[in-house]
Amino acid sequence: MTTVIKNGTIVTADLTYKADVLIEGGQIIEIGPDLKGDESLDATGCYVMPGGIDPHTHLEMPFMGTYSTDDFESGTRAALAGGTTMVVDFALPAPGEGLLDALKKWDNKSTRAHCDYSFHMAITWWDKQVFDEMKAVTERGINTFKHFMAYKGALMVNDDELYSSFKRCAELGAIPLVHAENGDVVAELSAKLLAEGNNGPEGHAYSRPPQVEGEATNRAIMIADMAGVPLYVVHTSCEESHEAIRRAKMNGKRVWGEPLIQHLTLDESEYFDKDWDHAARRVMSPPFRNKQHQDSLWAGLQSGTLSCVATDHCAFSTEQKRYGVGDFTKIPNGTGGLEDRLPMLWTYGVGTGRLTPNEFVAVTSTNIAKILNVYPKKGAVLVGSDADLVVWDPKASKTISAKTQQSAIDYNVFEGKEVTGLPRYTLSRGVVAWADGEIKTKEGHGQFVARDPGMPVTKALSTWKDLTAPRPVQRSGIPASGV
Ligand code: URP
Ligand code: ZN
Ligand code: ZN
Ligand code: ZN
Repeated sequence: MTTVIKNGTIVTADLTYKADVLIEGGQIIEIGPDLKGDESLDATGCYVMPGGIDPHTHLEMPFMGTYSTDDFESGTRAALAGGTTMVVDFALPAPGEGLLDALKKWDNKSTRAHCDYSFHMAITWWDKQVFDEMKAVTERGINTFKHFMAYKGALMVNDDELYSSFKRCAELGAIPLVHAENGDVVAELSAKLLAEGNNGPEGHAYSRPPQVEGEATNRAIMIADMAGVPLYVVHTSCEESHEAIRRAKMNGKRVWGEPLIQHLTLDESEYFDKDWDHAARRVMSPPFRNKQHQDSLWAGLQSGTLSCVATDHCAFSTEQKRYGVGDFTKIPNGTGGLEDRLPMLWTYGVGTGRLTPNEFVAVTSTNIAKILNVYPKKGAVLVGSDADLVVWDPKASKTISAKTQQSAIDYNVFEGKEVTGLPRYTLSRGVVAWADGEIKTKEGHGQFVARDPGMPVTKALSTWKDLTAPRPVQRSGIPASGV
């Protein structure tokens, strides 16, 4: 059984050209003119692009006394509806819990996935067991380890733990990720704000100013440099953090930054809405910023100093958000975006001329596929690649609304936004997964994507670090001790 995508224009991270795409057994087997297949999908007027890869989701995540409402079933359904064909979720051991025990839980949750998925492993505490199990985790196909520098008393790890874990990542050829905010200062600012009667959702934004993110980003970059390992900074939201990443890159350090579609398109005024629910629904960390920070993030995507656009999809219902009435520190942190990332980025990026279609593919799919070591299986339109594809209609439009979304929550932070550019078809390993406004795959279609450590960039960095490591000077004559 073969499927052909006909009459479309292929758009990859580096090329735009007209060709048909022939698919068999879940993979692309031929690209060229006038191809024939058993089944045909019409891409007239459309772009054929690698499906989106969202490197940052929290599906059914235990957090702040509850679980995020979208699980692997509704979350991956939302992904496919928006042209995303792979998600990377965070396996999250509770402090004291083994990494492999946590992984079993994520294996169980993900059996319901509609699209392919992978995991990052979070390091939420540190001792010999964690050190030892990190190797077993890489052998299971997980080459990225996430560290929270915020959420003091819960997920946060300190600098000595960061350094130990980063060194272990260097030994294993893995890449550390950081949530960069100074958790100690956030805790102090939060307590002060609450004591002064600032208990509404706007207090959340006041408690996490850009400086606390910039400081933590600089610190994580320094620690990664000392440990001799690359670094991936999740949800880069402000100029202070972007500046740290930009400077590190210009100094030859292997550092990547990941802005979210929320930070690119929504600003801090949301927290000053008179409606408590409206503001609380947008509480996430880091919080939304002002227009200058947004301009910095767009410039980073244009110049290549920021690499990937993610969602950090972590969806809580209004009822869950209301746990924090009277105390903003109890509002579960997180927002949705899986279904909206590609249409919003196309509309506000390509539609405005801030991004070319090729840059759009780079920042939604190809760059992260390379960083995570799954390119060109994912993130490419090449013979031999998985047929994870989106047939993108640049003229189709809709108004985003919670009423029509796949996500299981009761609101959408992009409610009312008009988007132009939507998937006509989304294919997951050659199977039409989204068409005619409906999900076509069954839950459980998604498969785990194993990712090997030892990426070219980790090898290159360890070669350089070995070459430039301190060495004792060989001296011919050593003076006698003065004692
Ligand atoms: O507010 C957020 N971002 N919630 C999800 C957990 C995290 O920090 O990534
Ligand atoms: Zn985070
Ligand atoms: Zn509202
Ligand atoms: Zn996150």
